[in-house]
Amino acid sequence: KQYVVAVVGATGAVGEAMLSVLHERKFPMKEVIALASERSAGSEVKFGNQGIVVRDLATFDPKGVDIALFSAGGSVSREYAPKFAAAGAVVIDNSSAFRDDVDVPLVVSEVNPQALKNRPRGIIANPNCSTMQLMVALAPIHRAVGIERINIATYQSVSGTGVKAMEELGKQTASLLNFQGAEATVYPVQIAFNVIPHGGDFLDNGYTTEEWKLVTETRKILGDDRILVNATVVRVPVFYGHSEAVHLETREKITLERARELLAAQPGLELVDERAPGGYPTPVTHASGNDPVFVGRLREDVSHPRGLDMWVVSDNIRKGAALNAVQVAELVIAEQP
Ligand code: A2P
Repeated sequence: KQYVVAVVGATGAVGEAMLSVLHERKFPMKEVIALASERSAGSEVKFGNQGIVVRDLATFDPKGVDIALFSAGGSVSREYAPKFAAAGAVVIDNSSAFRDDVDVPLVVSEVNPQALKNRPRGIIANPNCSTMQLMVALAPIHRAVGIERINIATYQSVSGTGVKAMEELGKQTASLLNFQGAEATVYPVQIAFNVIPHGGDFLDNGYTTEEWKLVTETRKILGDDRILVNATVVRVPVFYGHSEAVHLETREKITLERARELLAAQPGLELVDERAPGGYPTPVTHASGNDPVFVGRLREDVSHPRGLDMWVVSDNIRKGAALNAVQVAELVIAEQP
């Protein structure tokens, strides 16, 4: 069978990647439809070597769409995803709009594909990019020995914020190298040659919304509300690829050898752990433009009897967003007889 697939937010960082992942993976499509706001309607986006004309979401009739991949922000999803679902499409939504809803599955393709079955609203949520890569790395450990607590600091690239943030990093860098000032418009302070301990909005408890996503989404995906998560989200001047310094406290002790075996057997994960200069993954050397979640710097925590440390890196636009959405779409079409 061939499907009609719509990409909502097709001119964005994630939308463009959705189109290229659909093309690369030869998703069986009879038609691919690119949608965005009226601002970019009429412009072209790439689908392989082909250009496809962007259409205005506001005036588009979703009838006949089989699968809709949304990545145009929460408010667009809230307004249009139910309309697409009502018209018969399966919606895979990359925004945070529905992630916490009990009747919307939140799925990492290699971790909890079974959750897809229960989607009464016809909407499936794609996890936050930071949670996504963390889950691929932690699911096998959690299944084996249980995770009691996760301490995590992220080093998140600017592509996670969108196209304008990437432009801001580029402009500020060029401007500063020319001994000119750096104007900050997307981020509250300069991002070039800097790090910013802030993602999303501040909550009453002092955490930010990006940090809180790691708490709620981890519990939902791993199906265990007892897991404790303490996160600090940091934006760094990297274009593609999020990194995470992860410190786990497991329920039962796990040895380094066992952890290594489990990680090596996890689909979608690649261990890069040589304990030598360069023998670890980084956004530039490993993650950017590639599919796997990379794990390195694996070690037992000397400060805790059930502690395990690791460094997790992945392309936030691919596995963190577009690739997982397409993998979920592949699981959806595989269900049908
Ligand atoms: P547009 O190019 O028309 O603004 P990013 O997160 O990389 O900035 O991308 C956001 C994506 O969401 C873009 O494709 C953008 O399209 C799209 N978008 C934003 N607001 C709307 C809207 N109101 N209706 C449709 N698409 C939208």
